[in-house]
Amino acid sequence: RTRYTGLIAKYRDRLPVSDDARPISLGEGNTPLIRLNNIPKDLGCDVDLYVKYEGLNPTGSFKDRGMTMAVTRALEEGSQAIICASTGNTSASAAAYAARAGMKAFVLIPDGKIAMGKLAQAIMHGAEVLQIAGNFDAGMRIVKDMADHAPVTIVNSINPYRLQGQKTAAFEIVEELERAPDYHCLPVGNAGNITAHWIGYCEAAGRRSDHLTDACSFCHGQCRYASAIVGDRPTMVGYQASGSAPFLRGEMVEDPDTVATAIRIGHPQSWDYAWKASQESGGWFDECSDEEILEAQRWLAAREGVFCEPASAASVAGAMRDIRNGKIPEGSTVVCTLTGHGLKDPDIAIQQSANAISTIPAELDAVRSAILDRL
Ligand code: F0G
Repeated sequence: RTRYTGLIAKYRDRLPVSDDARPISLGEGNTPLIRLNNIPKDLGCDVDLYVKYEGLNPTGSFKDRGMTMAVTRALEEGSQAIICASTGNTSASAAAYAARAGMKAFVLIPDGKIAMGKLAQAIMHGAEVLQIAGNFDAGMRIVKDMADHAPVTIVNSINPYRLQGQKTAAFEIVEELERAPDYHCLPVGNAGNITAHWIGYCEAAGRRSDHLTDACSFCHGQCRYASAIVGDRPTMVGYQASGSAPFLRGEMVEDPDTVATAIRIGHPQSWDYAWKASQESGGWFDECSDEEILEAQRWLAAREGVFCEPASAASVAGAMRDIRNGKIPEGSTVVCTLTGHGLKDPDIAIQQSANAISTIPAELDAVRSAILDRL
């Protein structure tokens, strides 16, 4: 069977769904792992650097991996409505999957601090958009209480099925590289995704030995699983925006701020899990300034042809710094997750491109000299 129909169909045996559950899917997952060619050269470093381009999921972010699971389960359990607090991507994804499932979606978004593309999605998919005069953390507090007051299923990453869906990104990476990378770098906000990846890598490490006994007993060590007996797992590295970096401060941040609105979060819900993932993997957290984040976003777009939203670029900004300073050593295989598509936040992109557009007369001569001047 060749048609790809989403990650529940593909990984059903590794996900908590019943045999007769009808997956609510938009064909999420199966995103490209792109090897960067130019940035390692620019850095003068010999690393195998990949980006997992999660912006190519159906609604343009990694949230779809979790949402297919959360909405499939919510529908199975008879729920008629879902709710989330969101910096934008979760609301876009919840709105789309709810539409697909014939459910109602309520989304709480922080006043004026969500990127336009994300808001457009929530509206078009028919979500009830409730803008609150408060930030993501305030919205999250309300949503957590709401389950006791109204018949709505929470689809933020505190919903355990979200992390189950998101762990499949790690499966895909291990399948494609035929091993785990040495380092996996992610932007961290609520800290669900770094947790989900660690779950996925741990399961993949165990599962490959299953393959050795089940599937590989007749391949005499020739199949792709044969070289992967040892359960190698990556070192997990989480990068936060400096103005929203509770993992760096070692405590919650009351008034988080960053240009990367997706990760403008001061009270991460998966605080304990993410510390555990970091410690178990021998990893670390670090912070990136808004300038570093935007510079990495521009580099990726201009040097590699890959357009991600600002929050996503934190993974590459941090990785570039840690590769340069040797914390990530030469010869390493490094995967950075690009969590969301660049088109999510056109305003920030255009603000950075003030001098990128020249206005000239609509005449052959003017265009010709513009070309010759610039070649
Ligand atoms: N990158 C993007 C583009 C995001 O939208 C988010 C989270 C993250 C990174 C951080 O992932 O929370 O699992 O650590 N966005 C959530 C939302 C909070 O509401 O869309 P995390």
